[in-house]
Amino acid sequence: MKTIIEPFRIKSVEPLRMTTRAERETILSAAHFNVFNIRARDVLIDLLTDSGTGAMSSFQWAAMMQGDESYAGAESFYRFRDRVQELTGFDHILPTHQGRAAERILFELVGGEGKVVPNNNHFDTTRANIEHSGAQAVDLVIDEGRDPAARHPFKGNLDPAKLEALIERVGPERIPLVMVTVTNNSGGGQPVSLANLRAVRDVCDRYGLPFFLDACRFAENAYFIKLREPGQAERSVRAIVREMFDLADGATISAKKDGLVNIGGVLLLRDESLAQRADALLILTEGFLTYGGLAGRDLEAMAQGFEEVVDEDYLAYRIRSTAYLGEKLLALGYRIVEPPGGHAIYIDAGVLCPRIPAAEFPGQALVCALYREAGIRAVEIGSVMFGGEGHEPPARELVRLAIPRRVYTQSHIDYVAEACAAVYEDRELLRGLRIVNDPPYLRHFTAKFEEV
Ligand SMILES: Cc1ncc(COP(=O)(O)O)c(C=O)c1O
Repeated sequence: MKTIIEPFRIKSVEPLRMTTRAERETILSAAHFNVFNIRARDVLIDLLTDSGTGAMSSFQWAAMMQGDESYAGAESFYRFRDRVQELTGFDHILPTHQGRAAERILFELVGGEGKVVPNNNHFDTTRANIEHSGAQAVDLVIDEGRDPAARHPFKGNLDPAKLEALIERVGPERIPLVMVTVTNNSGGGQPVSLANLRAVRDVCDRYGLPFFLDACRFAENAYFIKLREPGQAERSVRAIVREMFDLADGATISAKKDGLVNIGGVLLLRDESLAQRADALLILTEGFLTYGGLAGRDLEAMAQGFEEVVDEDYLAYRIRSTAYLGEKLLALGYRIVEPPGGHAIYIDAGVLCPRIPAAEFPGQALVCALYREAGIRAVEIGSVMFGGEGHEPPARELVRLAIPRRVYTQSHIDYVAEACAAVYEDRELLRGLRIVNDPPYLRHFTAKFEEV
């Protein structure tokens, strides 16, 4: 069969509230044209993020009933630990409440003034945690990864030559570890090849540097490897996942992505002394070693989620359904980051409405138009998110449509495409915005706008 269907049927439904255009108009202006200020009940299709927004399976809900809520030594922890160990091969497995908590512990231990941490592209919480420690976060993605139109199969790859040049320039003693984010969220959800992970590992070995993964979307990355990397098609995703982790000395994971849960994270370590110091910090701010700030039932859901996410029927549907939206938008005439990544489609709003200057936020104009047209919530990744005083203007004005896992059906996505078609037809009518309230940090969350 050519049609790739959702590999599940629906047991429990969550009703959507329909709104009229007039209602959405009122809601949008009451939210000061910032969709973060809109109540979720007023959103029809929520593509704000794929993080923690997925649907759990009946097996996960059933597993939650077994949650052992003992403070220490809960059975739920051991089930979670065994599952993660089996998947990744790591011995030191620390549960955390989400990905950034794992990042905070790691960079409190290895970061600090004068340190430099390379990555393909740091995700914003990773960058923030590194910078908060006093260290510098450096992005070394390959050149193709910066070009939205380049159809390289592994646009998330870190450039090993750039890495060597950085190490030579600053000195290996200033680099506590080298990180690679799979898939590369800030670079458009683009995958990293096994060959590239091996090449980065080689550079690390030559300079005696630890190699870490930001492995939030490890299964989506492994599936892209199976699809696109020569010699990998016959291997199981599970085997590829294992090889990815085998190459690393540690990893941070937000389980809100490929853990298929609504909350949870993991820190994986090999080094004994680093693990001991991480344990101490975990207890200080997250919780005891066998719960790490989570309930026993959350650990159960994660244990089951890490099993389900390597199911290849699930991954075929996941990657195909994201690409399906991308292909529809391309056919309409939109410029998107190509090829489609694993978890989201990124529209180039600067190309869509060249009349609106970056200072009037073309991405935000498109976000507002999608909400107004059809109650769709997307997120701006451009001058609102990265601009402002003291910041270099971003290279592109993107709008991300992130696809929650196992939540929307093909007809929901068809609806999104239809709304995008209407917005595209009327693109000359899009209106720029001006900021009337500009918070000093992470302004996209709370800024207020007016239409120009
Ligand atoms: C690549 C990457 N790293 C880290 C994080 C942070 O995870 P969390 O939101 O669970 O703190 C995210 C979340 O979106 C991410 O995409």
